[in-house]
Amino acid sequence: MCEPRYFDVRYTINPWMSTDDPVDLTLARDQWSTLVHTYREHGHTVETVAPVEGLPDMVFAANAAVVVDGRVFGSSFHAPERRPESSVYQTWFKAAGFDVHQPGSVCEGEGDLVPAGRFVLAGTGFRTHRAAHREVQDFFGRPVISLDLVDSRFYHLDTALFFLGGEGDASQDGDIAYYPGAFSPGSIEVLRRLYPRAVIATEEDALAFGLNSVSDGRHVFVAPQAGGLVAQLAHRGYVPVPVDLSEFRKAGGGIKCCTQEIRS
Ligand code: ARG
Repeated sequence: MCEPRYFDVRYTINPWMSTDDPVDLTLARDQWSTLVHTYREHGHTVETVAPVEGLPDMVFAANAAVVVDGRVFGSSFHAPERRPESSVYQTWFKAAGFDVHQPGSVCEGEGDLVPAGRFVLAGTGFRTHRAAHREVQDFFGRPVISLDLVDSRFYHLDTALFFLGGEGDASQDGDIAYYPGAFSPGSIEVLRRLYPRAVIATEEDALAFGLNSVSDGRHVFVAPQAGGLVAQLAHRGYVPVPVDLSEFRKAGGGIKCCTQEIRS
């Protein structure tokens, strides 16, 4: 994770961002610290990457890479403003002992690539290019399921879907939660076939960044504003852990965006 010391909205690269809506940095820092503290309280190790001045979106660590089996597939950002982040995170990974594969086309890490058991679910349409999906499949040797995103408010896959883990489909790797309205009809059909029992979120829950959640298979770190989703998760036997990251919505981010998961 990366502390939001220089977090701000200084350019607009998604529909949530407006340079007229000032960020309350004190609130953002408090919310972020609460997330770190909550992860640690639940037994998760949190490592931090030093923030760099002039990179206001660097707090969104999820976009820097995707890590599976201890192997790191790096990032290549769509927006020029975010491109310098890749090498900063790469330096951190290398210092931590990981080799980093540099993608050959636009790829925004876990923003669009969601490891889900034997599969990697992969979004395209606004950021990550479809060519990167192929590259991810070859790199990890895991089938990549390409999904088309069609609503610009849900410009990254991780704003519209998350992997719950636990027990369920596809087939037994674990289930997912998603908002169908973010996907093309063909992609909705693919998700239905793979995950017939998935948790289906409403537009309201998706707009509250409820799908930008992190699950350890039991606890789901989730936006408290996504009340319907929180209730559904509890009903399914998960333990929702509400963490409010509302200030990061001004940049189009939430809990998952701020979290890069290192899968060893
Ligand atoms: N302002 C950032 C962008 O548009 C937000 C990134 C959110 N990250 C995420 N994993 N969805 O690139």
